[in-house]
Amino acid sequence: MRKKIVAGNWKMNNDLDQTILLIEELKKNQITKVNVMIAPSSLFLKTAKDLLEDSPIEVISQNVHQKSNGAYTGEVSCDMLKNIGISTTLIGHSERRAHFNENDFVLLEKVKFAIDSGMNIIFCFGEQLKDRKSNKHFDVVKSQLENTVLKLNSDFWKNIILAYEPVWAIGTGETASAEQAQEMHEFVRNCISKSYGDIVSDKVSILYGGSVKPSNAIEIFSKKDVDGGLIGGASLVASDFDEIVKANS
Ligand code: 13P
Repeated sequence: MRKKIVAGNWKMNNDLDQTILLIEELKKNQITKVNVMIAPSSLFLKTAKDLLEDSPIEVISQNVHQKSNGAYTGEVSCDMLKNIGISTTLIGHSERRAHFNENDFVLLEKVKFAIDSGMNIIFCFGEQLKDRKSNKHFDVVKSQLENTVLKLNSDFWKNIILAYEPVWAIGTGETASAEQAQEMHEFVRNCISKSYGDIVSDKVSILYGGSVKPSNAIEIFSKKDVDGGLIGGASLVASDFDEIVKANS
């Protein structure tokens, strides 16, 4: 059985007080069999971790650097994260690709280094609107995966969760239809299967991200290759996030 996951990516939102308030709200929600994760600002990861000490909600990082330590101003290392008990990180979010020039080469370094350091990763990928409009979405996704995670040997895959996030659906209110999500997730699982076989591909959780809301979550999560969601805006509202978590139960 694949892990069902709902992860909230808070991006650059919530100051300290808001972080504490939202976590206190989330703690009141009934946790289901779903693995629930939240990714607050790196500045507040330790606070979040302390507040959720007795909770099954996992605190994860939005990003990590690809070197162990050194003169990399402003960056956070795997060891720093592990030191405060964080063992999962997002890598390759489209906003990191677009605004911080993270390309496939750097992303592969990050993935390798993080997993070699004992971390789990949620690797994000997805096409832009122009790719979908020109019917190149499968080619673009295939190349994003072939240049990164599909280069790894199969041992790495027990630490990898994937998140398909079509860029045109992020923060736009426009969601991929459940059929579009399923079609891409199935395609991705087949790519993994071709490289590593069904035993590996069947175990990989593939999350969908892009304007998931309480109103569309049940339908998206009902698809057989959609194992959960990576939620942006709706994860900032405790009641919405709770509904989305329950939609995946
Ligand atoms: P939205 O849910 O706000 O569209 O963001 C999705 C996302 O980027 C999660 O990483």
